[in-house]
Amino acid sequence: RRLKRIYALHDFESAARRHLPKAIFQYVRNGAGEEFSLRRNRRIFDSLLLRPYRLRDVAQRDAGVTLFGHRYAQPFGIAPTGGAAMIRYNADRLEAAAARAANVPYSLSANSITPLEDVIRINPETWFAAYLPDDLAIVDGMVDRVSRAGYKVMVITVDVPVAAQRLAETRAGYTMPIRPRLRVAANVAFYPRWLFGTAGRNFLRLRQPRIANIRPGNGPGLFSRELSAVGGSSGFTWDHIERIRARYPGKLVLKGILRPEDAARAARIGVDGIVVSDHGARLLDHVITPLEAFAEIKAQAGTMAVMVDGGFRQGSDVLTALALGADAVLVGRPFLYASALAGRAGVEHAIGLLGKDIDRGMAMLGVSRIADLTADFVQRV
Ligand code: FNR
Repeated sequence: RRLKRIYALHDFESAARRHLPKAIFQYVRNGAGEEFSLRRNRRIFDSLLLRPYRLRDVAQRDAGVTLFGHRYAQPFGIAPTGGAAMIRYNADRLEAAAARAANVPYSLSANSITPLEDVIRINPETWFAAYLPDDLAIVDGMVDRVSRAGYKVMVITVDVPVAAQRLAETRAGYTMPIRPRLRVAANVAFYPRWLFGTAGRNFLRLRQPRIANIRPGNGPGLFSRELSAVGGSSGFTWDHIERIRARYPGKLVLKGILRPEDAARAARIGVDGIVVSDHGARLLDHVITPLEAFAEIKAQAGTMAVMVDGGFRQGSDVLTALALGADAVLVGRPFLYASALAGRAGVEHAIGLLGKDIDRGMAMLGVSRIADLTADFVQRV
């Protein structure tokens, strides 16, 4: 019922705004600084236009792509998003289940209260997106924990050397660790469904919910001061990546690459894939948009899988990136809004909407396979 008027991924944002307390909604929606990059992640598509072929046989279409040895049904996946279970009770689990049913990539964020061992049981193809500190013992312990749990793909998020500042969420009273404030509590009272359905159930079940996946054992609680120290890892460098490469037997992906030099270096040391990403414009305002950085990076990526994210919302956005040479696209916020709104059904609806739009777009462009999309399909204006 809540999904009745949702015709596109864009529609989830306004619907979720009515379902989430202000501080939580802004945490998901907002970007760094004055949100120049957040807007530009969308506006970049204004200058990339698609050039369709006519009268080709497109009766049989397949949008599937192969990534790290697995054939997925769609060329897009669910980006790692921390705090998902605070947005919807069990969101990590239900997103993992929805992704498995639809056979699309799903990445679990380290910054989650759901233990990574639980999620891979729900979806054995889950990618683990790690936030690692510079402490070598913790790094080794986490790498071992991730491979022991059976994760075949580990994504290292490399773009958060220090904790980010985002103004809209800060102004709305969002804090991590959680500090109860009267102003926030007053606003939350208007969202009883979230208060009892998500916050209440988390606290009843876990007493003190913990960020479960940033330590070899149990992580710090959401209220604990220890959590402030987890914000970023400013001493984490290429040396750590080389060490992880030697220790982790699965596919290794670096997320947050925005320079061709970094892509070349990743390729040299045996990394399997990169995500060209500005982290949804949540870290540094006025940073280059992933699509503007893409061509130069792709040229240095060798045989690595190259993914991209930030602002992808409709079929044409995804098809544009694929034509420019991306192996897949990741999408973040819409899936959080979808789970806030309608849980697993919401996430499945979101996957279905984007999948159908891609399929329609392929037919309109005159292509029946993703591999047919080449750079000449895109005209820069
Ligand atoms: C994120 N993102 C993110 N990335 C990551 O590597 N680890 C993480 O824990 C998180 N957490 C997170 C939380 C929230 C609320 C958002 C919105 C995003 C970034 C995410 O993986 C992805 O790069 C962007 O969300 C993509 O941009 P769009 O699709 O949201 O515009």
